[in-house]
Amino acid sequence: MNLPEIQRAVEILKSGGVVVLPTETVYGLACDALNPEAVLRVFTIKARPSDNPLIVHVDRFERVAEIAQNVPPEAARLAERFWPGPLTMVLQKAPRVPDVTTGGLDTVAVRVPNHPLTLEVLKASGLALAAPSANVFTELSPTSVEDLSDAVRAGADLVLDGGPCAVGVESTVLDLTEVPARILRPGAITAEDLASCGIEAVKSDGSGLRRSPGRYPRHYAPRTPVILVASIPEGAGGLCFGLPENPTQIQMPSDPSGYRRELYRALHRLDRLRLGAVYVEVPPQGPEWEAVQDRLLKASSAPG
Ligand code: TXA
Ligand code: MG
Repeated sequence: MNLPEIQRAVEILKSGGVVVLPTETVYGLACDALNPEAVLRVFTIKARPSDNPLIVHVDRFERVAEIAQNVPPEAARLAERFWPGPLTMVLQKAPRVPDVTTGGLDTVAVRVPNHPLTLEVLKASGLALAAPSANVFTELSPTSVEDLSDAVRAGADLVLDGGPCAVGVESTVLDLTEVPARILRPGAITAEDLASCGIEAVKSDGSGLRRSPGRYPRHYAPRTPVILVASIPEGAGGLCFGLPENPTQIQMPSDPSGYRRELYRALHRLDRLRLGAVYVEVPPQGPEWEAVQDRLLKASSAPG
């Protein structure tokens, strides 16, 4: 592990700076979650609306008590099973968490990310780190440092390179402040996974938009229009399942976790080619594909 880099990240974060950190899902733009000025800087770099709350990252479940209160017993069970990992829990916020971090809500989103570098930064700093995905608002999230935008690079005090992200799409967001629990954003951990842990969660319908302010229709979108199709038109570029017919087509893995891991990287790559459109062959249905389907729908919805 690169100790001097970790040490620098810790110093920067402790003094209110902003660091791009790797996680297993996507890269995050991290700062001290309890420092309102630092959090404001993150919102500014991302050009993110101030009512869109951030996820707070800690290094282990025991530390959730520092930022949340009245934590239900289900949270411990889920943490035991899925942390560190791509599950974010929405809980009642502790008073010490500043309003800017939670977008003025009385709840806070928490997770323990599964990446050795970032776990080390969390441990060594003793901080709780607010870290939204390291993209500019509405743009694609980066799953490697190569895909960071210039605006994010320029805004951050340091970029820690932890290699390509293993999961590739943002964490599952689960609201535990209501019964039944509600999935506000689908991710690698599915409703079926939660059920196997004894948690019957309902999926968010349209009303989830209100409950989770970050669920804007157009999100995770490249600049190039994304069009979902049964098969890519002759001569055009996009993501396919079969063999590519030209250099602007990318063959995607046929299994859901492989597809998920490659999705943003592939879209970033095609976005740089400045094609007229990116055609994406619709992946299969089914619980394992839900996160991918969700991100593709958002990427392909019309701007505005
Ligand atoms: O995988 C991930 O979760 C990545 C990595 C960096 O950890 N982070 C991430 O953060 O995706 P962000 O800020 O891009 O997305 C956070 C999502 C948003 O949809 C936001 O609205 C929702 O979580 N959220 C955060 N706090 C919430 C709260 N208190 N209540 C409801 N939704 C919340
Ligand atoms: Mg995001």
